[in-house]
Amino acid sequence: MAQTAREAGSLPVTNVQVLAETCNSKRVGDDLQVPERYLTKDPNAEEIVAGGDSNCAIPIIDLNRLVDPRSSSSECAKLVSACHDWGFFQLINHRVADRVIGNLKSDVVEFFKQPLEDKEECAQRPGSLEGYGQAFVVSEDQKLDWGDMLYIQVQPSESRDLRFWPTRPPSFRNSVDAYSLEAIEVGYRLLEFMAMGVGAEPASLRGAFQGQAAQGMRANYYPACRQAADRVLGISPHTDANGLTLLLQINDVHGLQVKKDGKWFAVEAMDGAFIVNVGDTLEIMSNGKFTSVEHRAVIHPTKERISVALFFFPLPNMIVGPLPEFMRGDKLRYRSTNYQDYLKQFYAGKLDGRKQVEKLKLEQ
Ligand code: OGA
Ligand code: NI
Repeated sequence: MAQTAREAGSLPVTNVQVLAETCNSKRVGDDLQVPERYLTKDPNAEEIVAGGDSNCAIPIIDLNRLVDPRSSSSECAKLVSACHDWGFFQLINHRVADRVIGNLKSDVVEFFKQPLEDKEECAQRPGSLEGYGQAFVVSEDQKLDWGDMLYIQVQPSESRDLRFWPTRPPSFRNSVDAYSLEAIEVGYRLLEFMAMGVGAEPASLRGAFQGQAAQGMRANYYPACRQAADRVLGISPHTDANGLTLLLQINDVHGLQVKKDGKWFAVEAMDGAFIVNVGDTLEIMSNGKFTSVEHRAVIHPTKERISVALFFFPLPNMIVGPLPEFMRGDKLRYRSTNYQDYLKQFYAGKLDGRKQVEKLKLEQ
């Protein structure tokens, strides 16, 4: 199956959870144990806006209000401006059952708690990004992220490669299955409201992400970094290449930051909410009405952080370009691209901000 992450690969690197155990056994004043390759961030060179103030935080969208005919059009308008101005929002009242989320959370936590050799039963294999390991390492001298991940393709169900699906804890597979089914429905509803919000047919976006379109799930594990939390990054600044991403923070440690007007805004994930973001594909299909915004994850000095991202990919071999319904009265702003080629280029490089999507922008 020539899809998504399956054609790509990443060079093997040290397991960060194990490395962090060694580094964190040292004290702050001791010689720095964190290898140079992980020191990617200069804490004095950037401005960070704290997440607590609702005036400078990503918007909150309420699915109940989107669905209710009395509030739907105003909430849709809010959704559209969130997707344009921030490319990110938190979704409340999303209707995925607490029990389903609770099971996913505890099983993901249990998975990462296992000894390395048990987790490595699901290790990545050469030439693919599925499995347990790291992604986007393309050269021996490249800087590295302070995190490990487990990536699996969850849909279409017949495309699952169970070699990469943990068998411990024993409920892991069921929990992921139940969660992905419910969360994918939420994603589809959002795609409909996003289309409706700009006056397009509800099915216009959703259709590109259904049927044989793939969804992938990535569980991110970001260990604490006692000696140099402000100089390492859990995940480097990047945009998501796919269409839509639903992120669930698994424990109560924050760390996601979103770039707006040249500054990094810290996101305080609300308990039980999804953090939703627009990926490159939706920016292109919407002719720039929605924005694929750079984001990254920072590291806590004493606490690990875990998150789970669900990625919606467009149909395989789709030509991704601005949809006519999103262009009425507007100039064409993006070149079209074969999604498979786009993804190949995305995975062949290091994560690098908005670099990929910028290449498709037409001069205005
Ligand atoms: C991702 C991502 C952020 C986070 O997995 O693409 O951006 O907070 N994760 O883990
Ligand atoms: Ni991301």
